[in-house]
Amino acid sequence: MPVAVDIGGGHGAQARRMARAGASALLIDLTDQQASAEDFNRELGRSAIRSFKGDVRDIDVRTLCPPLDVIYSQRMMGCIRYAELRDLLKVLFEHANPGARCFLSASGLETEFGLTYPHRDLPVAERWASITPEMAEKHQMYAPECLYRDLELAELVAACGFTVLRAWQSTFGTPKVIAEKL
Ligand SMILES: C[S@@+](CC[C@H](N)C(=O)[O-])C[C@H]1O[C@@H](n2cnc3c(N)ncnc32)[C@H](O)[C@@H]1O
Repeated sequence: MPVAVDIGGGHGAQARRMARAGASALLIDLTDQQASAEDFNRELGRSAIRSFKGDVRDIDVRTLCPPLDVIYSQRMMGCIRYAELRDLLKVLFEHANPGARCFLSASGLETEFGLTYPHRDLPVAERWASITPEMAEKHQMYAPECLYRDLELAELVAACGFTVLRAWQSTFGTPKVIAEKL
């Protein structure tokens, strides 16, 4: 059975999709998704999703699940500092099976809120700021974030060992990467 992780998976919509497709999924999030994961597992008839409530920076994924086949993280990678993401990606690479695939995205500098982001002109490794109050209100994003320019996320993923298969930016300006551990 393929092993998948969804980092910052929120309510677990993607973890559910992966579980329905036959994976054993680990859902990591700051919020508590235990009860809804249990309901889902009961409905599916197997223990398909394991929910872990916590900060991904404080845990060692290697102790929580067998080696990974799928690494998924949508709209969360900017919620931790650049160096923290680099450390996390290195651990994920080490804990991935050959052939493992990643789908990753982070908040973008070329979004509407990125245009007025206070750290826009800093190198990516130093960016760590909240977006302006007006944009924070509009997008409901209040915590500091590291925003990424077009290919900066892909370059980081590659620097951590993965082979980037596809890197693009959504029409909204969000960088996305599909990568593989060869
Ligand atoms: C913008 S939401 C995205 C949720 C989901 N991936 C989606 O695309 O709908 C970001 C999620 O990341 C989680 N998150 C933020 N920082 C985190 C951290 N350091 N460790 C674990 N989860 C985190 C939040 O709790 C939130 O659910």
